[in-house]
Amino acid sequence: MTTPTKKEIIEESMKINAERNHSVSSITPEIEELQESGVYEEARNKLMRDQENHEFLAYLERMANQSGYELIKSKADYCFGLQDFPIKIIMKEGAFVIGGRGCGKTNLLKLLVMELLKCKIEVKVIDSALAWKNYPLPELRVKDVDSVNNKWNMIYDCSRLSVLEIRKFVNEMMSEDVREAILLTDAGRKPKCCYVLEEAQNVILPNSLRTLKFQEISRFVTQGRNFGLSYVCSTQRLASTDVNLVEISGVKYWGKMGGHRNLIKARAWLSKFNTWRLRDLEVGQFHLQIGSKVKLLRLPLFKATEEVYA
Ligand SMILES: Nc1ncnc2c1ncn2[C@@H]1O[C@H](COP(=O)(O)OP(=O)(O)OP(=O)(O)O)[C@@H](O)[C@H]1O
Ligand SMILES: [Mg+2]
Repeated sequence: MTTPTKKEIIEESMKINAERNHSVSSITPEIEELQESGVYEEARNKLMRDQENHEFLAYLERMANQSGYELIKSKADYCFGLQDFPIKIIMKEGAFVIGGRGCGKTNLLKLLVMELLKCKIEVKVIDSALAWKNYPLPELRVKDVDSVNNKWNMIYDCSRLSVLEIRKFVNEMMSEDVREAILLTDAGRKPKCCYVLEEAQNVILPNSLRTLKFQEISRFVTQGRNFGLSYVCSTQRLASTDVNLVEISGVKYWGKMGGHRNLIKARAWLSKFNTWRLRDLEVGQFHLQIGSKVKLLRLPLFKATEEVYA
């Protein structure tokens, strides 16, 4: 990313200063004054943010062109930027996407995976509903749980497995990955890898993280980040997954949801106002929550073009 020049920062500072003071004065403030009042720093941050947003849009377009995906929303519809995919925090603290049927969870995960790949983070997508077909990553259809090639940057199509088999498959693969990541970290080559776990309730049941049967998954989600491993989970129903996992995930995306029980559970993390607003969100809108901060996002849609995949 190119950093703004001193001249640009000063120009932007002058603008902010003039707006703030409704200035009609012809006296130009000195740089020191701008620095002291914090305007200089503010202008620098604003320029960096604009630049990031600009680069991100250009990047999305490039990815879309290369992969045959089409951004069907106009640029004016993007009201998000890099800060809406807080990759660093996700790699440190994990992420959870929660929302009712069809609220746009998978679409959000697809955007997130692009962002992870861009940050040179390797991913594994566990897809149990054929929702990642035609995504620009190699896909492996898992038929036999015991003989799977363990590779990164891969979509594992688990649609043919039973829920129990998916659980076993993920458990074993995570166990292997943790072992390998520990060795690599020990050798000074800490990896940067992330699991994308669709329909997490298939794999992580309520109160399951403390049980022996799930100890490998539990170890992955609780300690993996020390060895460069993180996760992004999604679920439709808070009531059917382990709330401890939601709790420990530093980044939460809340999509449209209804159902009294789900909303009551969501209240544990969101204010009353934001919880009730969940019912009225549109498809593709999410509350992004990092710690106690919450902001509303509208995401664009990625759509596979027919010519490429026909
Ligand atoms: N940002 C968006 N803008 C417009 N339409 C969207 C957006 N995100 C998703 N959609 C549309 O909504 C539908 C559901 O999207 P998606 O599959 O991502 O939702 P989901 O929450 O994963 O659904 P499910 O609960 O069935 O897994 C799709 O047809 C998709 O095209
Ligand atoms: Mg989905």
